[in-house]
Amino acid sequence: MSAPDFSVSGKHVLISGGAGGIGTAFARAFRSAGAHVTIADIKPPATDEGFAFRPLDVRSDEAVKAIAAGTKRLDVLIHCAGRLLRHEEHKPEVFMDVVDIHLGGNMRLASAFRPHLATTKGCIINIGSMYSYFGASMIPGYAAAKTAVVGLTKSLALAYVEDGIRVNAIAPGWIRTEISRIGRENPPFNDKVLARLPTHRWSEPEELAGTAVFLASPAAALINGATIPVDGGYVAA
Ligand SMILES: NC(=O)c1ccc[n+]([C@@H]2O[C@H](COP(=O)([O-])OP(=O)(O)OC[C@H]3O[C@@H](n4cnc5c(N)ncnc54)[C@H](O)[C@@H]3O)[C@@H](O)[C@H]2O)c1
Repeated sequence: MSAPDFSVSGKHVLISGGAGGIGTAFARAFRSAGAHVTIADIKPPATDEGFAFRPLDVRSDEAVKAIAAGTKRLDVLIHCAGRLLRHEEHKPEVFMDVVDIHLGGNMRLASAFRPHLATTKGCIINIGSMYSYFGASMIPGYAAAKTAVVGLTKSLALAYVEDGIRVNAIAPGWIRTEISRIGRENPPFNDKVLARLPTHRWSEPEELAGTAVFLASPAAALINGATIPVDGGYVAA
């Protein structure tokens, strides 16, 4: 039997929210594995690391369609754009906005790039959360969207299989990035998270990247519709 094929060399990868902590870690990992990476984000990267950059607001149908129209080839689509607004998300308009970024953006990108991915027999990687499994009283929009990402991932996997496209998601645990900073800097919240976490520490974005590269590789050909917790055992605890 030949060795499993974990290669993503030569693949074209687009990462929404690619200027953020997790998106940047994914971009570096795919590039070091030989892939061509484009990051798309509402804001430019803080440091220019030489990745192709496309400005994009994932809430805009037109902007998403335009970026798809300007893309010749795509093998891997990763939806990493995200935002949360502690306490604010009980306002319906804020709730809808947060859901639109995480869930609407996911559907817009998947739909716009389906033809590209059908051509390459590519894959989609969505981003869930621990709040794909648990409620969150202060961020109901974020938690609702992340729970729905699990369902959307299954549904798109079933719909796109006829095109040879796989759709999976990663549910990150507690990762040291900007989106989690307010929680990390809130001692009662921070203590509660660390007490339950078997690793008792926040993780680095790089610790998720191997799972993303694996999911995009031929070795993951049988994985479809799955959401994989990469969480240091938090869900199991
Ligand atoms: N950090 C964690 O602990 C954690 C845990 C679980 C899930 N996640 C998820 O991982 C993903 C990446 O988050 P991160 O931790 O890298 O946070 P981050 O704040 O570092 O990055 C989020 C990125 O999304 C971009 N963004 C926000 N709104 C956008 C829009 N409308 N259009 C395009 N881009 C937009 C931001 O500019 C930013 O670069 C998010 O979906 C987040 O919910 C993070």
